[in-house]
Formats: sequence, C-alpha cells, structure tokens
Amino acid sequence: MASFPQRVFSGVQPTGNLHLGNYLGAITRWVELQARYDCVFCVVDLHAITVPQDPQDLTRSIREVTAAFLASGIDAKRHIVFNQSQVAEHAELAWVLNCTARIGWMNRMTQFKEKAGKDREQASVGLYSYPVLMAADVLAYRATHVPVGEDQKQHLELARDVAQKFNQDFTASIAARGLGVEQPTGEGGTALAYFPLPEPLIHGPATRVMSLRDGTKKMSKSDPSDNSRINLTDDADAIASKIRKARTDPDPLPSEVAGLAGRPEADNLVGIFAALNGQTREEVLADYGNAQFSTFKGALADRAVATLAPIAAEMKRLVADPQAIDAVLADGAARARVIARETMDGVKDIVGMVRTPGR
Ligand code: TYM
Repeated sequence: MASFPQRVFSGVQPTGNLHLGNYLGAITRWVELQARYDCVFCVVDLHAITVPQDPQDLTRSIREVTAAFLASGIDAKRHIVFNQSQVAEHAELAWVLNCTARIGWMNRMTQFKEKAGKDREQASVGLYSYPVLMAADVLAYRATHVPVGEDQKQHLELARDVAQKFNQDFTASIAARGLGVEQPTGEGGTALAYFPLPEPLIHGPATRVMSLRDGTKKMSKSDPSDNSRINLTDDADAIASKIRKARTDPDPLPSEVAGLAGRPEADNLVGIFAALNGQTREEVLADYGNAQFSTFKGALADRAVATLAPIAAEMKRLVADPQAIDAVLADGAARARVIARETMDGVKDIVGMVRTPGR
C-alpha cells in the first residue's frame, strides 16, 4: 500500500519573549528530528495577528524567532525555514478548510476560550478560526508528524478531524482525479485520502514547562512577570538569578519520581534539568535525590547557562544582520511555495474549482 512520504511541520508564533518552554517543548525536538525527516519550520506571523501586534515589534519578532531557530541548530539549507505570510497558500487553504471544519468543533477549543477571556464578542474572527489556519499549515505540506508541546494537542486533534472530513467529503472526486493515497481505516479496510492524518509528537520530560513563579501555570510569553520565564535572549546572570528566585517548597528533592506528585515546582525544575541534560526525571533524581534546592538550583543554573548562553549570543549576532535573516526566509519561502502550491492545486481540482493550468 502506498503511504504518504514522512514529513515534519511545526511552527512558533513571533509574539516576543521566546522562552525555555518553546525551546525545550518544541525547538530542541525539531533539532533532533532533522536527522530523520524532511522538515518544514515556520514562523507563524498570520497566527500572531489574531491578537493585536505592534507592526515594528512584529517585524523584529519574526527575525528574532528565525534567529532562535538557526542559533539552536536548525539547518535552513537542508530543511525549510520561512515565515507563513510569504506563502499565500496557507491563507488560501485555510479558507477551504474553514468550510470543512464545523462550528461545534471550534466551540470546544480551550485555547480560544482562554485567549478570548470574558469578552468573547470582542475577540477577532481570526482568533476563533486560528486552529483551522494551523490545520492548513500542516496540511499544505501534507505533513505526517508535528512536534509540539502539550498545549497544542487539542489543535492537532482538530487538524486530524479536518483532514479526515475533507478526505471523506471528497472521496469520489479524489478517486476520479487519481489524487488519493490508500490509507488503513482502523476497521480493517482502506480509504482514499488526499491528506494524511498528522500525528502529534509530544514526548520527553519538558512537554509542558511551567512558570518559575507558579508551578501550576504554564510558562508563557504573555506572563506579566519576567521572572516567571527564562527568555532565550536572557544572559547568564539573568538565567542564574531567575533560577535562584524560582519558587520551591521547603523539602529536599525526593529520590523517586513518585515523590514529585503534589510538588509542581519541584517537578518542573527536575523536568527542566532532565530535558537540558538529555536525561529522564528518574536519572536526575538518582543524582540529586535528597539534595536541598539550593544545591540543585546551582547545578540547574550552570546547566541552563551552558546550553542557553551560547544560543543567546548567536541570536544577538544573527539579528544584527536583518538582511541575512530575510534572505534565509525568502529562500525558505520559495521552496515552501512549490510544495504548498502543488497541494493547493490538488485541493482546487478536488473541490471543483477552475484554475489556470501551470499557473
Ligand atoms: P507557540 O508559539 O505558542 O509555541 C511554540 C511551541 O512551543 C510549545 N510551548 C511549550 N512547550 C512546553 N512548555 C511550555 N510552557 C510551552 N509553551 C509553548 C508549543 O506547544 C509549540 O509547540 N499554534 C502554535 C503555532 C503553530 C503551529 C502550527 C504548531 C501554528 N501553526 C502548525 C505546529 C503546527 C503556537 O501558538 O505555538
């Protein structure tokens, strides 16, 4: 049976304050996956404008996120790095998929409810249909794997539902045009699919990095307290000081993972250490079980500075040359466009639109 070629797609919003959660939950995973997959990495500026953005900050942020990808070890020559708005097919496919997604599905999206807050009537329509644009991002490349943090799980489930409904709604047209790939249905049979059902890759000890000030809240770009997160642009002193000030409980570290239950701050710091050191929580506790937080925080600060300070320095060097970054994005966009256009041409044919051949 034919299968879809394996491809990774993922994205980060250019909304300022790229932090340790983005780095450990997403970017480091991407760096690992580069060796095994063809990868497409996107700075999702169309997603960023679903909430108000200062235009100058947005431009700066697009370049800064690109610099973070490169400084972390993403290879923009072997893979594709670009910003979403340069490939018009994202918005175009999102429109078609808006007509596939159901309002009932969208109403279940928890991130919309969180972001829209109490005054939902005042939220942008873009914020509401944000997950459909995300589905379009992934499906424009017919990506099979999507490495993300835990918070994106629901959005990717929606992307799978959208892909599946499109495949079902248009099965006859997909077959008539010979554009389908036979896929197992799970009930022992097969069905024709134009889009693969993208698989979320959410693994490792840091899929949900929490705030350093409150272990029950996610580390986030928008937290008003800068001490709640380690920014990728923080220097060594700032990193060490934030870790020193991180909230903890008074007990020493447990020697078993089970002992982290009900201790969200301890669990978070152990998870961060594990991810930075390529270890599991068990391995970290084998070394630091029964240690006082003062000792553990010192080791964690050293580990974090060793990994992050060179990235911050490289980002600083890269953003000093915006033209070079723009050239990387333009090159990535040109290559992304070729793939996304082919997908979009197929979508138009399947849906029954008339298009200029070889446009
Ligand atoms: P964004 O920009 O909020 O976050 C980028 C990536 O970082 C992960 N992440 C975290 N991981 C662990 N702990 C945290 N505290 C933490 N905070 C963020 C996110 O899960 C994400 O992987 N909607 C997406 C961007 C996007 C996208 C896509 C992703 C747009 N289109 C298509 C994958 C595929 C977002 O807002 O990520």
